[in-house]
Amino acid sequence: MLREAGMHSVFTEGLGARAARRHEAWLCDRAETLLGDLAERRGPVDLAAGFAEPLAAAMTSRVLLGELSAEEVALLRERTDLALQFCGATAAEQRAGLIDIHRFFTAHARRLAEGPGDHLLKRLAQASAEAGPLDDAALSEIAALLLIAGFPTSSGFLCGAVITLLRHPETLARLHGDPALVPETVEELLRYTPLSTGAAKRMATQDADIDGVPIRAGEVAMVSLEAANHDPNAFEDPDSFLPERQGPGHLGFGHGPNFCPGNRLARSLITAMVLAMARRPGLRLTVEPEEIRWHEGLFFRRPKAIPASW
Ligand code: HEM
Repeated sequence: MLREAGMHSVFTEGLGARAARRHEAWLCDRAETLLGDLAERRGPVDLAAGFAEPLAAAMTSRVLLGELSAEEVALLRERTDLALQFCGATAAEQRAGLIDIHRFFTAHARRLAEGPGDHLLKRLAQASAEAGPLDDAALSEIAALLLIAGFPTSSGFLCGAVITLLRHPETLARLHGDPALVPETVEELLRYTPLSTGAAKRMATQDADIDGVPIRAGEVAMVSLEAANHDPNAFEDPDSFLPERQGPGHLGFGHGPNFCPGNRLARSLITAMVLAMARRPGLRLTVEPEEIRWHEGLFFRRPKAIPASW
């Protein structure tokens, strides 16, 4: 839709490397503030509700959609969970979740686009005012896409990455001493930390043979990026978290035509989170990793809480 409307460049400009750089300092500041507020409490904390999730919500407002109130974030979180609940909810319930998201943006996308801030929805709305074709329906559809592609992925991944780091205190200690190790740590987090509980569907456009398995044109193959990221034929000792590892790139953002266009922004967000944790040493899980409870049936996994303390 954006390509036809001549707005693809606005999309990449608002989501790509320059956007990531533009928002980098703000994201770091936000991560610092959230973790600093938790540290001041001097007791047990929940790093999901107090850190990872509000950081992802802040990015969604600031960079993607414009100023959402806390109540709006809570509503959209609940409806997105329902829409992306691939077991435990009926198809009708899932559809109702999606319909509510569309209803919300039908009512609010224009208001968000015209509100304060320099975010992607505003850029798209402004560009369309000059180029023409993005009417209210199209704008609200894009807002829903940005929410579904950007929010549950970011919040689920940040939570998972926080847990990975807490399970590897030696990495956090090294990062505290040498923040230059952050970029390689972010890449290893993207390889090691699973996000999706399902698999991406791909329809073969021609007959193929993958590792001895024939796939005919028109057949659907289920592709698990998580399994690929832990493939022992591609990664040595794949189930160990080794930020210093050399070797092939990961598939944390997919590959090919569907490669995640939000990857630069996501990397800035994860970097902000890692830096904030590295600056405050001594953070540890207060339960065994196996005792962490997860929301069940979500396509993008997310824990119910990450109990921790300093
Ligand atoms: C840590 C956060 C994120 C992770 C791990 C992630 C991961 C991914 C992955 C693996 C894919 C490919 C899915 C497939 O092959 O079917 C994807 C696609 C996509 N991502 Fe992300 N993503 C993240 C954040 C974001 C953000 C913040 C946005 C911003 C809106 C975004 C927008 C998209 C879109 C629009 C697609 C679909 C691309 C297409 O099909 O052409 N992602 N993402």
